[in-house]
Amino acid sequence: KGKYCVTLLPGDGIGPEILAVTVDVLKVIGKQFDIPFDFQEALIGGAAIDATGEPLPAETLQLCRNSDAVLLAAIGGYKWDELPRHQRPETGLLAIRAGLNLFANLRPATILPQLIDASSLKREVVEGVDIMVVRELTGGIYFGQPKGIFTTETGEKRGVNTMAYTESEIDRIAKVAFETAQKRQGKLCSVDKANVLDVSQLWRDRVTLMGQKYPDVELSHMYVDNAAMQLVRAPKQFDTIVTGNLFGDILSDAAAMLTGSIGMLPSASLGLEKPGLFEPVHGSAPDIAGLDKANPLAQILSAAMMLRYGLEQPQAADKIEQGVLEVLAQGYRTGDIMSSGMKALGCRAMGDVLLKVLES
Ligand code: NAD
Ligand code: IPM
Ligand code: MN
Repeated sequence: KGKYCVTLLPGDGIGPEILAVTVDVLKVIGKQFDIPFDFQEALIGGAAIDATGEPLPAETLQLCRNSDAVLLAAIGGYKWDELPRHQRPETGLLAIRAGLNLFANLRPATILPQLIDASSLKREVVEGVDIMVVRELTGGIYFGQPKGIFTTETGEKRGVNTMAYTESEIDRIAKVAFETAQKRQGKLCSVDKANVLDVSQLWRDRVTLMGQKYPDVELSHMYVDNAAMQLVRAPKQFDTIVTGNLFGDILSDAAAMLTGSIGMLPSASLGLEKPGLFEPVHGSAPDIAGLDKANPLAQILSAAMMLRYGLEQPQAADKIEQGVLEVLAQGYRTGDIMSSGMKALGCRAMGDVLLKVLES
């Protein structure tokens, strides 16, 4: 009783490395804030395929359903790239998002003053950037029917995916986005391709309608191609962005680089009920897996989001976030955010300096 059941999904590639460091951080924070964590580990992605033949075993989904929160690292890798679609690691990730009804993915991209020099953009362009991408996560072209590779009458193959949104799917993500904007700077930019796509026209109409209920939020619309350009041209114009599944996937990676590295960006995938799932924006980074080179901070900050949005422990979340700022201020860097004069560390050592800061 009174325990916080957290399911840990290490997955593949750098996943186990960054999650191990993060669990150590949570254990220390749990002691300090008297949060009795009960961690359980389960299989997903390539690791699950190797052990059971399926990317999301029923047992894993059940365990997640019975927990208070799910902390996921990353899935995927070359080894499984040639398998049929239903057996790929990515399918497991989509299945857990759908299975837990996690339609709202919050992806914050905040420039930390300590990391301005790690950004590929000029200081004056990125200084002060603070964007929240609200990405729809269980609909759109990722899930629409029909989908598949079919054979036409002439015997040619034809690959099909369908971008579709119902009114209720748009309304529920729009509501999350307006409420998110209300708690931030009160500006919401809805990103679509309404000049070409019917699904986007419906999206724009419903978001506009929903906007009437939020007169305190300044709503604007932007086409996705322009949004990609504006994100690198003048990112400070954005506060909250709401967009569909595929556009959100792409724009959040672009937003990530404003902050210096995708290795810094956490996310929260939320539904109407618990559990939420908390995951870094980046993938399994197979190019650096097993080398102790990964930046664990996106995963650690995802754990902070878990404490804030999933377990109602905002003070514990604050402490982790402050700790991360402090290690960066002390000059510690993993390779992805390295700049001259800073102290280079591996994944584990980065966790250790953070633990030291948290315990001091
Ligand atoms: P990726 O995000 O894994 O890697 C892109 C680049 O960023 C690589 O150079 C990688 O080394 C670097 N990088 C990523 N995270 C890092 C970190 N924490 N520290 C330092 N560097 C980091 O994307 P990709 O290479 O396109 O995909 C690799 C695999 O990951 C694929 O199988 C893909 O499907 C999967 N993927 C999974 C998720 C997820 O689990 N949520 C997200 C994206 C991609
Ligand atoms: C992400 C990833 C996933 C997505 C893939 C791995 C299924 O890119 O979490 O951003 O496209 O949603
Ligand atoms: Mn992605």
